[in-house]
Amino acid sequence: MSLSQLPEHLLKSLQERDQKGLLRKLKKEFPGIDFCSNDYLGFSKSGILSSALQQQTNSQTVFGSTGSRLISGNSELIEGAEKHIALFHHGESALIYNSGYDANVGLFSCVPQKNDLILFDELIHASIYDGIRLSNAAYFKFRHNNIDSLQELITRHKASYNNIYIAVESVYSMDGDTAPLLEIVELCKASEKLYLIVDEAHAIGVFGKQGRGLCNALNIEKNCFARVYTYGKALGCHGATVVGSTILRDYLVNFSRSFIYTTALPTHSIEAILCAYKLLIETNEQEKLQENIAYFYSKVGTIDGLIKSQSAIHSLIVGRNIRADELEATLAENNIYAKAIKSPTVKEGTERVRFCLHTFNTREEIDLLIRLLKAF
Ligand SMILES: Cc1ncc(COP(=O)(O)O)c(C=O)c1O
Repeated sequence: MSLSQLPEHLLKSLQERDQKGLLRKLKKEFPGIDFCSNDYLGFSKSGILSSALQQQTNSQTVFGSTGSRLISGNSELIEGAEKHIALFHHGESALIYNSGYDANVGLFSCVPQKNDLILFDELIHASIYDGIRLSNAAYFKFRHNNIDSLQELITRHKASYNNIYIAVESVYSMDGDTAPLLEIVELCKASEKLYLIVDEAHAIGVFGKQGRGLCNALNIEKNCFARVYTYGKALGCHGATVVGSTILRDYLVNFSRSFIYTTALPTHSIEAILCAYKLLIETNEQEKLQENIAYFYSKVGTIDGLIKSQSAIHSLIVGRNIRADELEATLAENNIYAKAIKSPTVKEGTERVRFCLHTFNTREEIDLLIRLLKAF
């Protein structure tokens, strides 16, 4: 093989994407007012987290963790952090993964077994879907946030499987809407076979007491078999945790491949996670975010295609990829950075511009965004 020799489909697939206007490219600059990032509380951008961290970081900190958790990468610091996180989220135990992607893949690929079933919301995040596909369990999707569709699948399949896992996000990453968690918990109470798993990636820092998430706000933490919290969004750092029973934690340590076969997060990442949790308790950024969300809704009125949400994520559905690009461009011309989300990432007909509200967005910036959305 020479260096210039490549499998034919590489270039062909790229060309096909390009022709459809769907070629993904990495950007290095994000000019304009940030209505795009997941830094909902500004922990990353505002520098709150890095200055808090500088004050507390131990100068003896080793840089790399030197190995996987089961070989040489474990430490008092990580285990202490996990105990702290379990307490904060009112769980029996917690296990840190290197990212939310790893946590979902690691959890879903090893817990459900051959004679089990996974029922998942059709808008579930790719990391959960990838985990499901790696498992040996059967799986079906139910209609987005549709409790009848979920109930119907449970009734139809209950007798055929040992355990049924239900996978939802408390806040959906594309629509920003919230799962009907109370109703799902009621469904789960009907049978001991049903296990609820909630991904709280976009709810931590946004909902619940001191940002504990939506399960906390609804008082259903104890009704979940497992909850996944990620740190790359409102907490402004990186990594993720699965919170659940001690037996679940022991099981994951033994069978979860994305936990076992990777170098553990370095000390500074764990310190950043702990520091971000401390900021959740010590600052009122969550309140400021909620004020901005309330302000947005007090001013926006009705716009066709706007998906209403109480979270930081909002979307205006415009219906075609080209329209989504046009809206992104219009916003950019007015110094606003928000992202067009096109099919096939979202279903055809639901192409949109997704925008996120943050603590650091000013009232004037939100007014400008609303004016542009209304005029489009
Ligand atoms: C709902 C959801 N779960 C999990 C993830 C993955 O988290 P991470 O970015 O930490 O890998 C994301 C992020 O894109 C997400 O939106």
